[in-house]
Amino acid sequence: MGKIEKRWRTGMSRREALAGLASFLAASPLLHAQRDPWPLGPHRRFLGFDEMRDVFDFEPIFRANVPLSVYDYTAHGTESEFTLYRNRDAFGWVDLIDRGGVDAKDVDTSTELFGHRMPSPIMLAPTARQRTLHPDGELGMHRAATTTGTTMIVSNASSFPFTRIARAGAEGPLWFQRYATREMEPNRVALGDAQEVGSQTIVVTIDQQASYYERDLHDRHLGGTPRRVARRTPPNPPNPYRVSAGRLWYEWKLFDDLRPMCEVPMLAKGILTGEGAKKCLEHGCDGIIVSNHGGRAIDYGPSSLEVLEEVVQAVGGRVPVLIDSGFRRGSDALKALALGADGVCFGRASRWGLGAFGEEGAQRVLEILNAELRQAMAAAGVSSIAGIDRGIVKTNFP
Ligand code: FNR
Ligand code: LAC
Repeated sequence: MGKIEKRWRTGMSRREALAGLASFLAASPLLHAQRDPWPLGPHRRFLGFDEMRDVFDFEPIFRANVPLSVYDYTAHGTESEFTLYRNRDAFGWVDLIDRGGVDAKDVDTSTELFGHRMPSPIMLAPTARQRTLHPDGELGMHRAATTTGTTMIVSNASSFPFTRIARAGAEGPLWFQRYATREMEPNRVALGDAQEVGSQTIVVTIDQQASYYERDLHDRHLGGTPRRVARRTPPNPPNPYRVSAGRLWYEWKLFDDLRPMCEVPMLAKGILTGEGAKKCLEHGCDGIIVSNHGGRAIDYGPSSLEVLEEVVQAVGGRVPVLIDSGFRRGSDALKALALGADGVCFGRASRWGLGAFGEEGAQRVLEILNAELRQAMAAAGVSSIAGIDRGIVKTNFP
């Protein structure tokens, strides 16, 4: 932990901040120009590391640490961001039934996916370019994941190559996420490299065919990397959908082409219908991730929580079903597990942790989420993941 991180750990009280400012002013020739210290006026105190209680506490600190374009890149959803907000609203439409009777210390959150034991079904969703959040980027995220026994899905658009993350010393389980290229040879190379260094699965994301981020265009932003912030608003891509041509060609056949390249299970990420899930299985997928990309795929679609049961029923237990989009709490994860999910992935929550305090922040986020899951399970009267049943939730979807 560096000096600055040490200071972040405790935070600065308003009294300390004012005392620091007063001594600066006393010594400053700019005294008269700075009589009115307005920058401190409208601010409330920022919390220190030891004061983090839930994952929402990390968000304003992350926001303060990075340029607006980097913040917006993490925060944004497609178009009017209806689905982004619906992802959060959906948890309010699912009641948890308090059946009590279990001591939190007797709760066992461990589970198994694709033959691998895991201490918890809480996982890290793949999210791009983590070095814009903190210099350690995915290397720090992977160390945090390793410390907490969390499986990390590494984005195809990571700041460090997957092979480097895998070889950097942390030993926690990694999965590789791929955005397929139309040419198959680059896919063969990327999937081969990832499996060679131990990727336990391959996650193929198929949902971002037509997303459009208005917020970022106002920032004159090109993809979350400060050095790539544009001097002028970038032009719309030359197609009628106004979106990057990179992902406009996906068809179900893609899975037939990729399957022979995978010696490990292949998952489809971005499925929101039972019909879609069945297609994935027909085309060789070994797992499904129910996801609307955190509200970053098509706007005005449903939340992933609302469609989870439909997908679980269509899959009928043939392969594991994971979910993400909008998860911020351990109790959110419990709701999805009760509706049939086998694993729950967190995207933005993990970025807030890394962006706020680096590796330690990401680790703390995972610890908080797991503690919340344990507590929610105890309150719902279940002591194991296998013991979670549909009876602990009541859905009131509109
Ligand atoms: C993502 N997501 C994503 N998905 C993917 O398959 N490859 C990627 O490179 C990225 N990159 C990415 C960047 C950022 C900034 C965000 C917020 C999301 C989607 C991600 O895996 C996941 O589906 C969502 O993040 C889940 O929603 P929450 O947890 O962020 O609400
Ligand atoms: C995103 C891409 C990288 O959501 O998946 O920004």
